[in-house]
Amino acid sequence: MSTVTILPSGNQIEAGEGTSLLSLILGADQKIQHNCDGKATCGTCHIFVLEGRKGVSKLTREENEKLDSIVGVSSKSRLACQATILGTEDVTVEVLSFR
Ligand code: FES
Repeated sequence: MSTVTILPSGNQIEAGEGTSLLSLILGADQKIQHNCDGKATCGTCHIFVLEGRKGVSKLTREENEKLDSIVGVSSKSRLACQATILGTEDVTVEVLSFR
């Protein structure tokens, strides 16, 4: 299990291995855009993983290709719908787009 802190709300939620960051964020009552409902085609669920990057699944080629098409991407960038919790360490994420 990991504790996931979601900014800007500051809400925290416990998460088990394999849970997507998008479902955690939505479950913690934090608004986030997710226009393609998790198909890695829209890029609107772009977030920053500020702490605990080793506690999150590795980038897939599909996710990496979509991130390459988004403005404002950094080394902390992930698609919330593609990144899953590994349960090895606590994680802090920042939501960048709200709806
Ligand atoms: S919801 Fe569209 S890329 Fe994540």
